Amino acid sequence: MEKSVRKMDSTSRLILHRTAKSEIGNGITVIVKGEGAWVYDQDGRRYLDLDAGMTRPVHVGHGCRELADTAHAQMCQLAYYTPMGYANVPAMELADKLADITPAGINRFTFETGGSDAVETAMKLARHYHYYRGDKGRFKIVSRRGAYHGVNGIGLRALGSVMPMRQVMEPLAPGAVFVESPYCYRCPFRMSPEHCDMACARDLQRILEFEGPDQVSAFIGEPLQQAFGAYKPPVEYWPIIAEICRQHGILLIIDEVICGFGRTGTMFATEQFDLQPDLLTMAKGLTSGYLPLGAVGCTDAVMAPIEVLNHLHTYANHPVPCAVGLKNIEILQRDRLIDNSAAMGDYFLQGLQQLTKYPSVGEVRGTGLWLAIDFVSDKKTRAPFPQANLMNLLVRAKEKGVITKTMGLALEFAPPLTITREEIDFALRVIEECIAEEEKAMGVRAS
Ligand SMILES: Cc1ncc(COP(=O)(O)O)c(C=O)c1O
Repeated sequence: MEKSVRKMDSTSRLILHRTAKSEIGNGITVIVKGEGAWVYDQDGRRYLDLDAGMTRPVHVGHGCRELADTAHAQMCQLAYYTPMGYANVPAMELADKLADITPAGINRFTFETGGSDAVETAMKLARHYHYYRGDKGRFKIVSRRGAYHGVNGIGLRALGSVMPMRQVMEPLAPGAVFVESPYCYRCPFRMSPEHCDMACARDLQRILEFEGPDQVSAFIGEPLQQAFGAYKPPVEYWPIIAEICRQHGILLIIDEVICGFGRTGTMFATEQFDLQPDLLTMAKGLTSGYLPLGAVGCTDAVMAPIEVLNHLHTYANHPVPCAVGLKNIEILQRDRLIDNSAAMGDYFLQGLQQLTKYPSVGEVRGTGLWLAIDFVSDKKTRAPFPQANLMNLLVRAKEKGVITKTMGLALEFAPPLTITREEIDFALRVIEECIAEEEKAMGVRAS
């Protein structure tokens, strides 16, 4: 017993997600405690958590007693009751709160167990909307190359009964359509932003003509994209996508699973664009990761034709995470953590910009506390930096007391929204040392 909890290696019975056996063989760090922006491992080593729990949910920081107390109180009051035919107070209150803070028009909410479930539910809601309006052929969903919207979408294939739940969604699985992403730094069309006329957005029209727009149910995208490292599209991008969708009766699902609840310096990143989503997906910062919870919001117009949502999770609209979500939003607002995200994000970005003097630092970007360094092996051609060297940066940073992650060709930073200037100064020092050491080891010289 002692062995398996103190040292996670191939002798442990725990299955890890997306972790190769070879990595486990080398030994895995066991995180045993968190406090503010810091976490501690089994040997008492302390790390600055530059990605808020690595998957980035921990907005209010680690060790928040208020959230723990809220969960405890709600469990004592009512730990669980079905989401089918009955309601509970925390879910109703959280829906009211979200109606106040989400982009205008998003007015109805359902709660799920995480981001993947929220995305799945939003896609089903879009399909329900068309289905109940008699438009039953719209089974395709447009997404973007490089997008990540969670892991579900397979389970329904195995559903052998509960007919409407399956029928509304038939045919299952096919229908994935992809357009290019707005990744200007390495434009998929090899154009420059000054001359492209937003080709990546306008290409949606051409793709829809090929696919048949009357077969398309929804377009899904993150307002700022994870894929290439916290990438913010030009402000013209979303209005063009939204207009093309509107012309063809296609619903727009904006996935705020990462961006929502202050990550990018505003409550929702959608606010930074001239954009009216039909559906909004949320998770992560909704409970700061203290309990699993995802949410889908939609407009009254989307819900109007839908007689019943043919969908059921035992843990949907769960009172305990909903109570925690409500308290979490109260803390974000009361402690002005969204303002801190904007201010500390600017400060962090200014610091990172100093690093562009290094030959391997291609582009530095950031919106609120979602930032990235896009690495290159040649600044002129923007040729990719070797993955192995990118991974070495992580190892060096961890040895110096900073945990961070890669995303595509970038290092990505998304710390708790409570992070301070002093903590950012420490992070900047460590990041610079790691880049200098890695470049030296590679024999890179400024040209
Ligand atoms: C944009 C986006 N949507 C959906 C998901 C899936 O969320 P979850 O991991 O909570 O299922 C993620 C997860 O990172 C995400 O980044």
